[in-house]
Amino acid sequence: MDPSLVNVPPLKNLTIDNITDNVKLINSNCENPRLKYILERLVQHLHDFARETRLSHEEWMTGLLFLTAVGQKCTDVRQEFILLSDILGLSLLVDSIDHPKPPASTEGTVLGPFHSHEAEIEPNGAQIAHDPDGEPCLVLCTIKDTDGKPISDVKIDIWETDSKGFYDVQYPGREGPDQRAVMHSDEKGIFWFKAITPVPYPIPADGPVGKLLIELRRHCYRPSHMHFMFEKVGFDHLITALYLRGDPYETSDAVFGVKDSLIVDLKTVSSDQAREYGVSEKSRLITYDFVLVSEEESRKLQEKNAMDAMKALGRKMKLYNGLPIPDVD
Ligand SMILES: [Fe+2]
Repeated sequence: MDPSLVNVPPLKNLTIDNITDNVKLINSNCENPRLKYILERLVQHLHDFARETRLSHEEWMTGLLFLTAVGQKCTDVRQEFILLSDILGLSLLVDSIDHPKPPASTEGTVLGPFHSHEAEIEPNGAQIAHDPDGEPCLVLCTIKDTDGKPISDVKIDIWETDSKGFYDVQYPGREGPDQRAVMHSDEKGIFWFKAITPVPYPIPADGPVGKLLIELRRHCYRPSHMHFMFEKVGFDHLITALYLRGDPYETSDAVFGVKDSLIVDLKTVSSDQAREYGVSEKSRLITYDFVLVSEEESRKLQEKNAMDAMKALGRKMKLYNGLPIPDVD
């Protein structure tokens, strides 16, 4: 854009009190209305944060160096920024806003930093975890829609740690993916596999996020869980996890992911189940019936929630690609 078109007054002699409006003004020619709105609110909140905390120059630099360290800790298989978002509660907040779930459906939870795209596609009944020290665990699941109809051919991504609480990607010398798989539900909406009983584990504490947790006197543990991600055209993308009831960290998850509806009882297979599924009689058992929401239902709920939230803030807004922007027409 021709800079001469930018309709702003001379930007000089700016003060604590007028810098915010001026920064917002110079950003206001942005042609993407959603980006323009996001930047307008970001600048407002960032500036208010500095004013409200009387942020010192040293603290500002500490923050920048912290974010630099977070970025430098990231690799192809480690996402320290997701971890930061997780421990600040932002990941759960964004998931709740962007993927609202009607009461009859399975709730979502945090993705976490350990999903990878390396998992092999496995058939029903596959052994997805090969840690010899892990406790064998049979997992039997169904997937239905909100009317109770089975959904076939859903792509399901599954991942968990080994018995020591580490994901495969945390081992530098690993040979390939383990404790993870991609599966597809059958015509009855069923998927099942052999895994190991999840264990509690610490989120990676050797980076800047771990140091921050120590400074905040917070522990870095997550309760025992297994991750699931569901994809099928026409249905809302579901990222969730199942948590074991009675885990010592059930009510103090370092990344705030636990929800009552996602807590399961760890059972033991019956003799019949051991025979039917080809597992040892000592094998533990997790069962769960997942319910997916249609894309349309989720979108309508998300848009309604967005407009209700804007109304509560007293803002005149409209939707742009399903997301709120100021209604200035
Ligand atoms: Fe996890």
